[in-house]
Amino acid sequence: VFILDLDDKSPTPLYRQIIDRIRRLIESGTLRVGERLPSTRRLAEQLGHHRSTVSTAYQELWSLGYIEMRPGSRPCVRARLSIIPAGGHEARGILDWERLSSGPARGIFADYRRFGLETAPIGASGPIDMASLDIDGRLLPLDQYRACLNRALRTYGTDLLAYGAPHGFRPLREYIAGRMNAHGVAATADEILITNGATHGIDLILRLIAAPGRIVVVESPTYRQVLPLLHFHGFREIEVPMRAGGMDLDVLAAVLKNQQPALVYTMPTFHNPTGISTGQAHRERLLSLCGRARVPILEDGFEEEMKYFGKIVMPLKSMDRDRIVIYAGTFSKVFCPGLRLGWITADRDCVDRLAALRRSSELSPNLILQAGLYEFCRRGYYDLHVQRMHRNFRKRMTTTLRLLKRTIPPAWAEWREPNGGYLVWLKLKPAGGRVPDWARLFTEHGVAIVPGRHFYRSGGDYSHIRLSISTLDEDEIAEAIRRIAKALSGIHRRKSHARRFS
Ligand SMILES: Cc1ncc(COP(=O)(O)O)c(C=O)c1O
Repeated sequence: VFILDLDDKSPTPLYRQIIDRIRRLIESGTLRVGERLPSTRRLAEQLGHHRSTVSTAYQELWSLGYIEMRPGSRPCVRARLSIIPAGGHEARGILDWERLSSGPARGIFADYRRFGLETAPIGASGPIDMASLDIDGRLLPLDQYRACLNRALRTYGTDLLAYGAPHGFRPLREYIAGRMNAHGVAATADEILITNGATHGIDLILRLIAAPGRIVVVESPTYRQVLPLLHFHGFREIEVPMRAGGMDLDVLAAVLKNQQPALVYTMPTFHNPTGISTGQAHRERLLSLCGRARVPILEDGFEEEMKYFGKIVMPLKSMDRDRIVIYAGTFSKVFCPGLRLGWITADRDCVDRLAALRRSSELSPNLILQAGLYEFCRRGYYDLHVQRMHRNFRKRMTTTLRLLKRTIPPAWAEWREPNGGYLVWLKLKPAGGRVPDWARLFTEHGVAIVPGRHFYRSGGDYSHIRLSISTLDEDEIAEAIRRIAKALSGIHRRKSHARRFS
């Protein structure tokens, strides 16, 4: 017996009710695989409705895979794969993604996992975050930004809902060109490519020049995201040590004499992780060495805007007579990383080639966010925000350096005072012969830091840690430094204690 209890008064159309009822009967097992349904005529008679209503319902049940229909016979219930409920974390298919991944992708994944495991969770009750280079959300002008996004949508309308140019939103490119001019770089909008942040810009450049076995010179230590990326693209890196004044240029000169690198990657201003900014003479010599060797320089200006102590050194790009410098900039470190917006400033030929590459993988950058940011910049809010960041971080870094000096004696640690930015690179002195696991020690004392060895291919640096103040206010900084000093005093007190009794 086949009873479908339909409701003539329901707003749901009758054919839809038939579908839902039969589906339910099949899914609950009341109707089993192979069982026959009434013919359209029989069911229509039984229900007292038009045959076409039943026919429409059967058609849809057939297209959803619930029933089979053959001419001349009654529809029957089909063995249909059931809908899979949302998988638990353990759900795994039969494919081995480790084996399917390319060797370079496996390398990137291994690095990603290792880093994840070694990064302490940060939360409300977790350690104070001196590890991340994120932004302090308390300083962000959220309401102004929201108004600018709205205004951009109102001004440009559906143009923002289309694909944009692979080079990026022209007005924003023009704004950035003007900004680069303010930093001494004579760039035009044609020489600007909008990227999804500086890291994306670096990736695009590497993709542009990648070939197996090519060499890229990096500073040692260097930005940790770049090392696995180099390997992914098949480069071999040469690490040139950082000295007090920047990359060791004598070493670089020797490298350039014997090899022909495809690129030199450098962070001349507020180098990550050491915080070092190079001086004018260093910049000039670097340009001259690379110019003579015809090797392009990738200048990562990620914290260019954070020169809040006013000691202005112009970017390499501003003195780039030979046009060998590709400059990567970003809005991440002074406004917000969540926007994922940055840029490349380079020769137009280079920019056009990068735009073509970007189009091959992601077509074009997010137009709505670019237009919102442009509006934010055009109205002068970006300038105001940069000034606010300067005011705050001038105080915050001054406090950091004062408290470090006051609480950590030279016997425990050494550091160089940065000219701006967010980073302090601490060289820790172990008590006795054994070097502690610094990250664990400080985490146990409630401060998350990044251990120095993360910034080298060859690892090996167990004496440095990187402190970032980018998300912390003065009170939080004071508390973090108090905890660091306490951790250090613990191990140094143990040492003097041990010496006294040995
Ligand atoms: C040296 C360096 N370059 C670039 C970036 C990243 O910038 P973006 O968010 O623009 O990709 C960072 C972020 O920490 C960095 O440290």
